[in-house]
Parts: sequence; structure tokens; C-alpha cells
Amino acid sequence: MSKGKFITIDGVEGAGKSTQIDLICSYLHRKGIEVVRTREPGGTEVGEKIRSVLLDVENQEMHSDTELLLMFSSRNELIQNKIIPALNDGYWVVSDRFTDASFAYQGGGRMLNLDRIAELEDWVLGDFKPDLTLLLDVSVEVGMARIESRAAKDRIELEEREFFERVRSVFISRSEAFPERIKLLDASGAVDDIHSKIRALIDSL
Ligand SMILES: Nc1ncnc2c1ncn2[C@@H]1O[C@H](COP(=O)(O)OP(=O)(O)OP(=O)(O)O)[C@@H](O)[C@H]1O
Ligand SMILES: [Mg+2]
Repeated sequence: MSKGKFITIDGVEGAGKSTQIDLICSYLHRKGIEVVRTREPGGTEVGEKIRSVLLDVENQEMHSDTELLLMFSSRNELIQNKIIPALNDGYWVVSDRFTDASFAYQGGGRMLNLDRIAELEDWVLGDFKPDLTLLLDVSVEVGMARIESRAAKDRIELEEREFFERVRSVFISRSEAFPERIKLLDASGAVDDIHSKIRALIDSL
């Protein structure tokens, strides 16, 4: 068994993932826990290169299966070369997005077969899974309004609203299917209130 804990944060664009991860990392530091913060797609040298291919608006023609496979390629690199070594060294790892996002975006958004995604999950993760997944849930409108002022949208952010409604709905159904691991938090309220709920969940780890 690894010594550190593995926490993932997911949710639609603008749900507040980056904001809450900043607070989580400070909280863990205050408790004297050493944290490795990472993100998906990316988080490793190879993974960040895959990320730039995935998010490049020039790549409009990318096949959905290619997108899925690139997500899992980036994830494999991250798990094998970063997350597992860090956990074994006693660090806690906090990841901005993880495998649930492949079910939500490629399964829900792109409407790829969820069983095929589960096969890739088996292949790349085996029995490995997060100790805790925080699903920050907000309506697509609220999430979009929060990030409206950002300069440019990436390839996936260019999708239409129905795409993100499907994404959100798969996230919610996964939290219902895996209630022990995935904790759904209403992320429409104040930053500090959401953070207090997250702290309680982290304390119970
Ligand atoms: N609970 C909240 N209430 C109001 N605004 C918030 C809340 N949480 C975050 N924000 C603001 O909304 C914007 C998006 O937040 P943030 O970048 O944390 O979201 P994200 O989930 O990381 O987005 P992305 O999916 O694009 O990475 C930021 O300007 C942030 O300050
Ligand atoms: Mg973010």
C-alpha cells in the first residue's frame, strides 16, 4: 500500500477546480503534508505535449477515438511516472481532473461507448484509483459565466452547450454509481463554504 493519498477534482469548465485546489494544497501544507499537484491532460513532459495536441484549435478534425486514446496515453504517463512514485515516497497527490473526466467528456460529450472507456480504464489503471474524488457541480451556465472573460477558448471549450450538459450528467451519474469515492459538492455557492466541505472530506481521509 502506498503511503500518500490520491485526491482528484473534476467538474465542468469554470466549476472552481483550480480555485479549490489552491486552497486544498495550502490546507495540506499547513497540516505538514507534502503535496504534488498535477493536472490532466498533462502533468508530465510527455503529457504536456499530448495536452497541446488535444487542446489545439487547429485540430478540429481529430477523431473522437484518437482524443480518447490520447487522454489515456497522457494518463498512463502521469500514473506511471509521477503519481505512483510520488505516493510511494509518501507525498499526497492532488490532480486537476482524472479518469472520471474521460467518461464525462469522451463518453458523455463525444458520446463514445462507456464500456469501451471502462476497458481502457482497466488497461491503464488496473486496480489503481483515487482515494477521494471531489466533483464540483455547477450548472453549465454558471460555469461558463465564470470563465467568460478568459482570453481564448481551447478546442474542447469550443463545444456547444448540449455537449457540456451531457458531460455534467455523466459526472453526476458516476457520483451516484461510486458514492464512496466520488463526493458531489454543490459548487454554486461561496468559495469558502465549498472549501470547508472539502476540508471535512479530506480530514476523514
Ligand atoms: N464558488 C465560486 N463562486 C464564484 N466564483 C468562483 C467560485 N469558484 C471559482 N470562481 C471564479 O470562477 C472562475 C473559474 O474558476 P476556476 O478557474 O477555479 O475554475 P476551473 O474549474 O478550474 O475552470 P477550468 O475548467 O476552466 O479550469 C475564476 O475566476 C474564479 O475566481
Ligand atoms: Mg482550472
